Amino acid sequence: MEVPIRIGLAGLGTVGTGLVKILTGSPGRLAGRCGRPVCLVAVSARSRLKDRGIDVGGFAWEDDPVALARRDDIDIFVELIGGEDGPARASIHAALAAGHHVVTANKALLARHGQSLAELAESRGVSLCFEAAVAGGIPIIKVLKESLAGNRITRIAGVMNGTCNYILTRMESAGLSYDDVFREAAALGYLEADPTLDVGGIDAAQKLSLLSSIAFGTRVSLDSVTLDGIERVSIADIEHATELGYRIKLLGVAAPSVNGLQQSMRPCLVPKDSPLGQLEGATNMVVVTGDPVGQIVLRGAGAGEGPTASAVVGDILDIARGVTGPVFGKPADQLTEPRTSAESGAAPFYLRLTLVDQPGVLARVASALADVGVSIDRMRQKSHHDDAAPVLIVTHPATQAAIDSAVSSIAETGVCTDPPVALRIETA
Ligand code: HSE
Repeated sequence: MEVPIRIGLAGLGTVGTGLVKILTGSPGRLAGRCGRPVCLVAVSARSRLKDRGIDVGGFAWEDDPVALARRDDIDIFVELIGGEDGPARASIHAALAAGHHVVTANKALLARHGQSLAELAESRGVSLCFEAAVAGGIPIIKVLKESLAGNRITRIAGVMNGTCNYILTRMESAGLSYDDVFREAAALGYLEADPTLDVGGIDAAQKLSLLSSIAFGTRVSLDSVTLDGIERVSIADIEHATELGYRIKLLGVAAPSVNGLQQSMRPCLVPKDSPLGQLEGATNMVVVTGDPVGQIVLRGAGAGEGPTASAVVGDILDIARGVTGPVFGKPADQLTEPRTSAESGAAPFYLRLTLVDQPGVLARVASALADVGVSIDRMRQKSHHDDAAPVLIVTHPATQAAIDSAVSSIAETGVCTDPPVALRIETA
């Protein structure tokens, strides 16, 4: 009889409940996949009595997740509590210190404390797995750490927050404002308890920073992600982008450049017919470019009970099979502090200017762009019935610095009735 792998689970929210269902629902299938029984032995959550639609009466109960993490009858501690500090951090630390493997879905915690926890796990010879922390059911961590390990990764791009993609695609399909769709998303329960984590791009930036670390062999560097959320994306820009053949996405991009590692999470235009441009609703997509593999596109549910619990189970089965390795793909003490760069290199930009309708105004715009070497690729003036003329410009590739400088000199000339909008166009 094979030795069972014993699990302690902290957190019985949506994902924890989903995990219990999988572990108790198909024990034979799981044992068949890893060659040994997978047994949930103990659980911890805020309330023992809450009705979750699952029976936890057969498992040992701990009120304190740290006590659960230290139990000597578990092999794997699964942390599904959430939060970058507090009980989640204390219990993961306690589990690793006790020599237990850890599986977590906690991107916020890893984006802040990943380095020290990875060092601790590796010094104890145990695994710290986090497939569920990035893009829910999409197995991107395993793909980067294992399947693409022979590649030089040159770029990671992706939509990693389903709530933002839901909001942006719903604004477009229903012609609704950001505020209307935000309220809808709240009513559907899509938003995090602190919605800024979603719409401010923070949740997605945390995920990108974890992928960057694995892809580029650097320490997690959340603070160097250039960050902008979707709160100021207007229905006008969504509609204009569509007319020009693009869609607006909250897009994460990480790529090394001669100036250093560049990481950004911000609203960008992508071609409507590209894989990213076709991504609808609360779905996630990660596009990895590597040498020699070329481009890989992974798409799937980025959140929710089943997809996220599926990722947790994948990690549990790996540990049960004895698959181990450094937490971020390279030993933690060899991860380098990234030389980071806020400059993303040249790209085309979409500009929307609302201009006073007077002679010479367009000439001033063209001259402000020319002054910083920015060339216009396409330009459209929309029909209008008042004194403010909406003008859309797509530039040839330009740097962010040049665009920022041109936009501020255009604004300073007093020709704009509304603040100009400038969004980067990512073409791949
Ligand atoms: N709130 C996230 C999303 C899921 O909407 O994608 C958890 O990271």
